[in-house]
Amino acid sequence: MLHTYLTDDLTLGYPIVGAPMANAAGGRLARAISGAGGLGMIGIGSNAAISLVEEESTVARGDDQTRFGLALMIWAVERRPELLDAALAARPFLLSLSFGSPQPYVARVHQAGALVVTQVNTVAAAREAEQCGVDLIVAQGTEAGGHTGHAGTLPLLQAVLEAVQIPVLAAGGIASSRGLAAVLAAGAAGAWIGTAFLACPECGNRAEVRRRIVAAGETDTVHTHVFDQVQGLAWPQQYPGRALQNDFTRQWHDRADQLSGDTDATERYREARAAGDYDTAVIYAGQAVGLVTQERPAADVVRDLGEGAEAVLRRRCGEVLYTSHMTVAGADWEQRVSDLWAEMDKYDEAEFVGRIAVLADELPPGSGIGLFERGAACDSTGHSDRAVPLYRAALDAGLVGERRRRAVIQMASSLRNLGNPQEALALLTTETEAASDDLDGAVATFLALTLVDLGREREAVAVALTALSNYLPRYNRSVARYAQQLTENMP
Ligand SMILES: Cc1cc2nc3c(=O)[nH]c(=O)nc-3n(C[C@H](O)[C@H](O)[C@H](O)COP(=O)(O)O)c2cc1C
Repeated sequence: MLHTYLTDDLTLGYPIVGAPMANAAGGRLARAISGAGGLGMIGIGSNAAISLVEEESTVARGDDQTRFGLALMIWAVERRPELLDAALAARPFLLSLSFGSPQPYVARVHQAGALVVTQVNTVAAAREAEQCGVDLIVAQGTEAGGHTGHAGTLPLLQAVLEAVQIPVLAAGGIASSRGLAAVLAAGAAGAWIGTAFLACPECGNRAEVRRRIVAAGETDTVHTHVFDQVQGLAWPQQYPGRALQNDFTRQWHDRADQLSGDTDATERYREARAAGDYDTAVIYAGQAVGLVTQERPAADVVRDLGEGAEAVLRRRCGEVLYTSHMTVAGADWEQRVSDLWAEMDKYDEAEFVGRIAVLADELPPGSGIGLFERGAACDSTGHSDRAVPLYRAALDAGLVGERRRRAVIQMASSLRNLGNPQEALALLTTETEAASDDLDGAVATFLALTLVDLGREREAVAVALTALSNYLPRYNRSVARYAQQLTENMP
């Protein structure tokens, strides 16, 4: 399980918020996302009927009091304060107030029992939001679908994480487990994801919209004012909307200001929208639209993002930190470890194990090399039981090279000592097939001992003599052959 503020404090199953999307993310989508372990949000447009707030909230909440969020645009609330009244009356778990300053509203939302979240597009807005008491900030990059600012998700997220102390979510361009893993690794408490849900059947959009979303690629969007201009919407200039390019954007994007007052264009646009003609009407979507390649249920999207991000983080942390161990350990560290092993007899057992642990602690947490050295110290001082889990963890951490082979040999030997020759046999048998090096003799020796424990003495002698034959210049071929014959025709 992934652990962030969203999972541990807000008890979500995954650190995923389904972004509010007016005309797309209604109660049905929000309910599906919350039911799958994320938190679903309902987007309320600036011109929405007030009754829509309660209607969609009722769908999201269901009979089982499922938690959901609602989202309003601040510039719209300034013109229509009744939107906020309706939103608070609907008792959302979380209220998003974005595209303006949330400052005048935070106390009232808190009094109504909801958390406040705001999307920001600049570091200055993030600082201001924190000061006015919001609970969560969403760093929304320009890759995002819908209305957004001009800074990219990653530059904005990095700067916002440095600038504020409260939990930060990342938005814009996140539609795969790799993307979610990336923002979690950077320090985000989760992702606020919109476009990835636009091809879900629970979305409140038309089938033709979902078809176009699936067909679009990452370069097919445009950040534009044209759709606000043609509809006479009072969106502040700093937030153009990111939408799929179409005939209308190609015709008007470079001269959007000429649209206001063009009654012909306005009328044609209105008709296209009503008819679902998306060569003209808007489909808001972000650059991550290229990652949306099929229609599928929101629960599947949530689960794949969440489970996949955990798998990516586990794999990548092992790989990436392994490289850094090597550089962090360095030649000086290796020399000190080697010197300590050479002087082992000077110390009593506990002190030796302690000194190795001190050296291991100089490496990054979870270092396979550090775990191996600690396992070897326990092993060499007669504590096979403590050595085995350390060797196992070292191998899981991605140990490579000579230390990996030594970990296998020494773990097998310790397992044998602990009365588990079966697992030792499996490990050593696999190891005989690994690339040959000067530890081959050691592998054979411990394999022979293990076979004796299992009552397979003839095979044990065959393994030992085959290994020994490599050191017999005059007799190596004949001894190897005799060794082989020992196990031929065995029952
Ligand atoms: C179709 C659509 C409609 C949107 N409507 C709203 C909205 O009503 N309110 C809002 O705060 N954000 C809205 N957004 C922005 C999203 O909340 C979010 O920031 C964005 O989807 C995240 O980026 P992504 O699309 O790359 O996942 C909308 C986004 C899309 C794609």
